[in-house]
Amino acid sequence: MKLEVCIVGLGRAGRFHLNSVKQLDKFRLKYVVEPNLSMAKEVLGDIDSTVTDDIDKALSDPSLDAVIVSSPTQFHYEHVRKSLEAGKNVFSEKPLGKTLEEIQTCFDLAHSKGLALHLGFQRRCDKNFNDLKESIKHIGQIRTIKTSSRDNPQPSFEYLKTSGNIFHDMLIHDFDMLIYLLGYKIPESVFAFGHAYDNDIASIPDFDTVLVTIKYPDGLICSIDTSRISVYGYDQRIELFGDLGMAIAENQRDSTVNLYTSAGTIQRPINYSFPQRYRESYYKEIEGFANEIDNKILYNVSRKECILGHVIANAAHESATTNTVVDFSKFKPLLIEN
Ligand SMILES: NC(=O)c1ccc[n+]([C@@H]2O[C@H](COP(=O)([O-])OP(=O)(O)OC[C@H]3O[C@@H](n4cnc5c(N)ncnc54)[C@H](O)[C@@H]3O)[C@@H](O)[C@H]2O)c1
Repeated sequence: MKLEVCIVGLGRAGRFHLNSVKQLDKFRLKYVVEPNLSMAKEVLGDIDSTVTDDIDKALSDPSLDAVIVSSPTQFHYEHVRKSLEAGKNVFSEKPLGKTLEEIQTCFDLAHSKGLALHLGFQRRCDKNFNDLKESIKHIGQIRTIKTSSRDNPQPSFEYLKTSGNIFHDMLIHDFDMLIYLLGYKIPESVFAFGHAYDNDIASIPDFDTVLVTIKYPDGLICSIDTSRISVYGYDQRIELFGDLGMAIAENQRDSTVNLYTSAGTIQRPINYSFPQRYRESYYKEIEGFANEIDNKILYNVSRKECILGHVIANAAHESATTNTVVDFSKFKPLLIEN
């Protein structure tokens, strides 16, 4: 039987989720909730779905099984909470909520109602990063990790104003990747420097360029550099350096062809932006969501992992805004066992 689904917010993220829903036999798109009705109707074309600007209308439909929340960040918590309260399985874009209380409420609701709560950390579905995770067994004890995470093109000012901040909007993916690759590992200290080259971003106030360093009790040191703009394409690389070797996940390119002439060597460009880089992962995460609903699997990311990522983002933000090394032990009371 098909799962009836609703997409909330049909912007950049809503559209890649729409593509996945269209490709998956498992889903039937019943509603799109979007304040820009004419845009949504145009994007949907001849798809037979109801377009509304009222989420309550969709949620009051008893035949609706699932909701994909891809509205602007400031609405995630409200849309996720309402959907779970209405008995719908939920896929939510990151971040789930702005506070730990909001995150806990969402997990409590999903748990008490036995509903799937899937978080949109698509890098967990990326074949390169999964291969990297598999490679860990060959490189001994990991001593350093270097991650580059540079967006392209720079998101609109409208988006950035309501995104939370670069730590919760962008770096949250990198913190989640550390949790995914290393398992549940609690840092010892976090240090971050940030700068805003863009005056609009400075006025929010937020940073567009950040370097975060995380140290773990066993000696592992990680650095993550991030930028809101990268003129040569969407740059997402991870290097793991261990006592027995090194594993690197490089960028994806539009083509594997290298051109060699007397003038030098030209490589084809790396993928332009996230819809190209993570096309397959965006599909796999929605496919995974359908499987979780079918098999009554509640989470793809556990509550304790989600909380740890959120708290690392808070620690990095605190460090960058106070120019201090943040002792992570003070956050331990906020972390949970399960
Ligand atoms: N995982 C990823 O790779 C990824 C990539 C991009 C965006 N995102 C996340 O997706 C979310 C949306 O980002 P985006 O880039 O698509 O933004 P966007 O501005 O392109 O799109 C947001 C859409 O939501 C609509 N909207 C506004 N208020 C609404 C409301 N109350 N109810 C329903 N819809 C509403 C807007 O009209 C717009 O069409 C953000 O939280 C962002 O963090 C994740």
